[in-house]
Amino acid sequence: RLELSQGNQHYEQIRACAEIGIECIQDDPTKRPANMTHIMDRLAETERTEVVIFIEVSNSETLNTVEIQQTISERLNLPWNDAEPIAKRAKFLIKALTRKRFVILLDDVRKKFQLEYVGIPTPDTNSQSKLILTTRYREVCFQMNAQRSLIEMRILGNDASWELFLGKLSKEASASVGWLGSQNDTREHAMKIAQSCGGLPLALNVIGTAVAGLEEGEWRSAADAIATNMNNIDGVDEMFGQLKYSYKSLTPTQQQCFLYCTLFPEYGSISKEQLVDYWLAEGLLLNDCEKGYQIIRSLVSACLLQASGSMSTKVKMHHVIRQLGLWLVNKSDTKFLVQPGMALDNAPSAGEWNEATRISIMSNNITEVSFSPNCKNVTTLLMQNNPKLNKMSYGFFRTMSSLKVLDLSHTAITSLPECATLVALEHLNLSHTHIMRLPECLWLLKELKHLDLSVTIALEDALNNCSKLHKLKVLNLFRSQYGIRHVDNLNLDSLKELVFLGITIYAEDVLQKLNMPRPLANSTHRLNLKNCAKMIYIKISDLNHMKHLEELYVESCYDLNTVVADAELTTSHLLFLTLSVLPSLESVVVAPMPHNFQYIRKLFISQCPKLLNITWVRRLRLLERLAISHCDEMLEIVEDDHASDEQDHGMVETSRNDTGQSDFPKLRLIVLTGLKKLRCICKPREFPCLETLRVEDCPNLRSIPLSFTHNYGKLKQICGSVDWWEKLQWENREEVACLDSKYFIPI
Ligand SMILES: *[C@@H]1O[C@H](CO)[C@@H](O)[C@H](O)[C@H]1NC(C)=O
Ligand SMILES: *[C@@H]1O[C@H](CO)[C@@H](O)[C@H](O)[C@H]1NC(C)=O
Ligand SMILES: *[C@@H]1O[C@H](CO)[C@@H](O)[C@H](O)[C@H]1NC(C)=O
Ligand SMILES: *[C@@H]1O[C@H](CO)[C@@H](O)[C@H](O)[C@H]1NC(C)=O
Ligand SMILES: *[C@@H]1O[C@H](CO)[C@@H](O)[C@H](O)[C@H]1NC(C)=O
Ligand SMILES: *[C@@H]1O[C@H](CO)[C@@H](O)[C@H](O)[C@H]1NC(C)=O
Ligand SMILES: *[C@@H]1O[C@H](CO)[C@@H](O)[C@H](O)[C@H]1NC(C)=O
Ligand SMILES: *[C@@H]1O[C@H](CO)[C@@H](O)[C@H](O)[C@H]1NC(C)=O
Ligand SMILES: *[C@@H]1O[C@H](CO)[C@@H](O)[C@H](O)[C@H]1NC(C)=O
Repeated sequence: RLELSQGNQHYEQIRACAEIGIECIQDDPTKRPANMTHIMDRLAETERTEVVIFIEVSNSETLNTVEIQQTISERLNLPWNDAEPIAKRAKFLIKALTRKRFVILLDDVRKKFQLEYVGIPTPDTNSQSKLILTTRYREVCFQMNAQRSLIEMRILGNDASWELFLGKLSKEASASVGWLGSQNDTREHAMKIAQSCGGLPLALNVIGTAVAGLEEGEWRSAADAIATNMNNIDGVDEMFGQLKYSYKSLTPTQQQCFLYCTLFPEYGSISKEQLVDYWLAEGLLLNDCEKGYQIIRSLVSACLLQASGSMSTKVKMHHVIRQLGLWLVNKSDTKFLVQPGMALDNAPSAGEWNEATRISIMSNNITEVSFSPNCKNVTTLLMQNNPKLNKMSYGFFRTMSSLKVLDLSHTAITSLPECATLVALEHLNLSHTHIMRLPECLWLLKELKHLDLSVTIALEDALNNCSKLHKLKVLNLFRSQYGIRHVDNLNLDSLKELVFLGITIYAEDVLQKLNMPRPLANSTHRLNLKNCAKMIYIKISDLNHMKHLEELYVESCYDLNTVVADAELTTSHLLFLTLSVLPSLESVVVAPMPHNFQYIRKLFISQCPKLLNITWVRRLRLLERLAISHCDEMLEIVEDDHASDEQDHGMVETSRNDTGQSDFPKLRLIVLTGLKKLRCICKPREFPCLETLRVEDCPNLRSIPLSFTHNYGKLKQICGSVDWWEKLQWENREEVACLDSKYFIPI
């Protein structure tokens, strides 16, 4: 049963609605996120509910289907496959959700849509799951078949408003305005401010935060400022006037950074690192990236951004706040062209680009831009995630001499237009494009600091000329088709500012040269070894000068026989390892702890036909994700029999010390695909963090290592074919029944 102790009418209403089936809350947009996030927290605490999913629906233009599917997959910790068609994924998600008691909150639905199309099952009267949707339009409730329990949300009463407002203030401020005998009418001014929020929780939240630290003598002027602001706005939602106060209390740089966030789509999250990179290139941070993170923190504490994502690496902008941002830009003397994530098939017409200072048309379905826009003052141009874009006019950059940030990643372009005019460019992202050659003029852009060419599957040549860009700090050629074949071609020592290098290497002697005690090795973060013929073994401790190596991707090295992670420690913390298409790889030797694989979080192995087992994964104590595919001879993942344990004393030692610790203390996800001979994963044992096991096309796998007697407390789902599931052998009948009803999801 929901216990919503807050005692105001919102929570009472939500309690009522959560008891029924589909709910619909006809809502004013301004009341979120203050209350919706509270509801989320409360719902998550109830025992009956297994998962609560909060989904921001963006369907004023088109439905953000993929985004919604991603949110659900993430919450259920299901593996994500970009290539999967929407309809297939929807079917799978419906199956996964039907197995759970869920509460799904669909926020701000503007038009009717088919739940099944996205992957949400409609709860019937018997199911214990709930769907709650909020909308501003009564007719949407009826169209979505949710009229059974229409609840209109009302605004907060005076007392509740005042309480919420006080809660936002600092201790001192709250004490001084809360005290009936306070001097100089302080209390009255504060109450005037609270009342001006009109009972809207979001406004109370934002404004309360903005005035949280006021001194006793400042309340009068704050109240006056808010009153004046409200009178000055004509025809715009009154709330914008109120939010504007919060904006006005920012420094000019913080304001610029805030407005920058409107360039991203209305839904979804923004990576903090990406934001800071763009701001740096725009010159907003005076080369101090820590300042960028500070600004993000202050925008979050002013409620202008919200924290997002589990690792606190992302932020979000509530769409009402974003609307405020666009309104402010419109009032100012700068012009933005902002049309991201709107499913556009055509770029905005040339006229709309005129005089814009920042342009974002990212995340659309644009295929070409055939004109040369006139935008002399544009500093940022974001065109990424237009996967079909492959044509840009020759003179496209003709006027863009002020451009500092250009992002074309995840497009299909095969070449870059004439770019000699881009003399101010600092940040260029061409990753995940089909670019083949870089134009000669690129090497003349002396201000370039970030050049991302990672995962460019058609790139033929680059590196020699990169050495001419003396200001480069970030150079990423990780998993590019362009890699270095000859030692003479590795000549990047002139890049004195370089702090991040991602690189692809095609020969062992080049690797040796890279790993010299020089700054170049020190700045290497990502290393891709590809087609290194004659390389027979890799010893991680040999890469001792790459102190910051985080990711190693070894592929198509046909003679590679052995990989050694020894106990002779280097200072690097390798986090991600991929072993792919290694037909001769027979042995991976991992020393007892501590060893050079001890920090690995993700391990991917594919097409290594000589690996019979990977018993060594037991020594990766921090491993979270393990994916193995198409290893034709693999018989077991972990070989458990005693004979071999005795041969290998180190193994016994690490697998289970006296406290009976588990082998896979952090492992959350196991994905096994196309392992034709696999018979066994390992013996039953503890998997204290395991959430998902997914098995596909492993016809000989007859058992899974889960049993009542061991701890698998976090398990959420086992995915596989029905045929496979039915043939599994169990020691215990009850066990299979229990696992079947609670966790199995057929695919
Ligand atoms: C009250 O206001 C007067 C002048 O307006 C000011 O000098 C005094 O410090 C204020 N009192 C407090 C407690 O803030
Ligand atoms: C910007 O202002 C113009 C005219 O004042 C108005 O027509 C337009 O709708 C505004 N755009 C936004 C996004 O507020
Ligand atoms: C570009 O900016 C300058 C100064 O900031 C201004 O004088 C000029 O009119 C702008 N040009 C265009 C085409 O907007
Ligand atoms: C994108 O455009 C292509 C044609 O250019 C079309 O076939 C495809 O359906 C569009 N995709 C979306 C998601 O609208
Ligand atoms: C370039 O774009 C990719 C994909 O959008 C992104 O992951 C990467 O962080 C970007 N690179 C830089 C240097 O910002
Ligand atoms: C780029 O490198 C190629 C050889 O790799 C060379 O022919 C060309 O002149 C270089 N371009 C510039 C601008 O230096
Ligand atoms: C290695 O790089 C770090 C920054 O990533 C820097 O602080 C350090 O001085 C560099 N060391 C050497 C030997 O270049
Ligand atoms: C497990 O793999 C190792 C190394 O490849 C091999 O020596 C051993 O025989 C394998 N064990 C089984 C049971 O196949
Ligand atoms: C067992 O392993 C845990 C975690 O590594 C450690 O804290 C503990 O001291 C170990 N116990 C023994 C007896 O080695």
